[in-house]
Order: sequence, then C-alpha cells, then structure tokens
Amino acid sequence: MSTRKITAADIRAMKGRERIAALTAYDFPMARVVDQSGIPLILVGDSLGMVVLGYPDTTHVTQGEMEHHVRAAARAKPNGLLVADMPFHSYETVNDAVKNANALVEAGAEAVKAEGGRNILPQVNAIIAAEIPFLGHLGMLPQHVLEEGGYYIKGKRESERQELLADAQALADAGAFAVVLELVTGPVAAEITQRIPIPTIGIGSGHGCDGEILVTTDLIGTSPDYIPKHVKNNAHLGDQMRVAITDWKNSVLNFRK
Ligand code: KIV
Repeated sequence: MSTRKITAADIRAMKGRERIAALTAYDFPMARVVDQSGIPLILVGDSLGMVVLGYPDTTHVTQGEMEHHVRAAARAKPNGLLVADMPFHSYETVNDAVKNANALVEAGAEAVKAEGGRNILPQVNAIIAAEIPFLGHLGMLPQHVLEEGGYYIKGKRESERQELLADAQALADAGAFAVVLELVTGPVAAEITQRIPIPTIGIGSGHGCDGEILVTTDLIGTSPDYIPKHVKNNAHLGDQMRVAITDWKNSVLNFRK
C-alpha cells in the first residue's frame, strides 16, 4: 500500500522514472483492496456499466450512476489517485463538462477522465481551468462503440496514426496529467509514448506505454460476459464463487436434523 496520498502531479512525474500499474474500482471494498495492493491510480470507470450494472455497453451509464459509485469508492479513502470517468453525453458542452466534472469531484473524485482529443479540447481546457486534474483517453473510445459498430484497434492506418499523435500532443499541451491509450497498435502507442511529455497508460496497446490499466473484474475473473484477449494472468474468482455457493447450497439442502 502506498504510504502517502498520490496526486495527479505525482502520476505525471512518474514518466520516465517508474512504470504505472492502474486498475478500476467501482465500490468501497474493491477500492480498498486495489489501494491496499499499492495501485497508484484507481479509476471509477464507466466500464461499470457492463461489469457491474449489466448494460450492453458504456453508453447507458448516467452521471447519477457515476456519482453513486464514485461516492462508494471514495469512502475507502485510497492513497491512490481516485479518477472518475465522465459518462457519455455528460461533456457535450463546456458548461456541462465543468458542471459534471465538479459533481464528480464533490462525490469524491480527485481527477476526471473523458474520451477524445482535439474534438473535446474546449471542454478539457475548461475542466483544467476549473482546477480539476484531467486524464485523457484516446484510441478505441468505448462511448463511440455504437456509431463505430464495434471495438476496433486504432493506429493501423497512417491517417489514424497522425490523428492519434496530434490528439495526444493536444491533450499534453492542454495540461492533461496522463493519457489512456486503448486498443492502439503497439508501435503507434510506443511512438506516442516517446513523443509526448506526459505518461501514457495503455490497455490492449502493447507494452510500449509508460504504464498499463485493466478493468479489475477482467483481471480477477468476475466480468459477466467475456475477458478481453489482452488480459493475461487473470484469476478465476467467478468460478471460485460458483463453487463456494454451490457447496454451501448443497450443505443446506442436504442437512438432516
Ligand atoms: O471505463 C473504463 O474502465 C476505462 C478503462 C478501460 C481505461 O475507461
């Protein structure tokens, strides 16, 4: 467990000095276990839509649901930096972005993350001007899964590589403290990492980033549907829970007074 409170500036300063292992948490016990494991950045991700709330994708997650889960995770008082995802449609205008980011901070978040680059730059600038640390998210953007028709790897085409580089540089210039690169080809993720001054945190983007992040329920094996291919060395707690529950159920059913 980290012995002191980690800030966004601390995460920013890890670039080139220390690799970053980040995980998601959606409630009090999970935030506590993740924090006790010494994870310096804990994300209340909108992935909670699929792995906790039973939605088909993240587009259904509401601002109210994010605030509820941030409050629960914040009660763990983690030493790791607690970052909250801004849900779909919560940052369409600059005013919405600042109002909703502030509401997540009031719920206990210490930084916010939103998906996009130059297309959301006015919102990013306003959030940072409101003194809320900002984590970028580029590459495959789960909140756009419906319009893109699936989860596709980004960076295969030269035009995508250039867009990603320009977006990453724009987020760094705006003052983001780090950027998540999701499902970006390994070489492009590594190139972005070399070029920008802030840490890149990859998910399914090879090992050339400054750190990696996973959805914790994928890592421990309790995600309901499937575990993505990039998750290695995962535990199988879902299977263990089924065994424990079935054993207990059988002991109740078979009990003879
Ligand atoms: O919502 C989430 O959990 C995320 C991570 C996959 C980075 O955005």
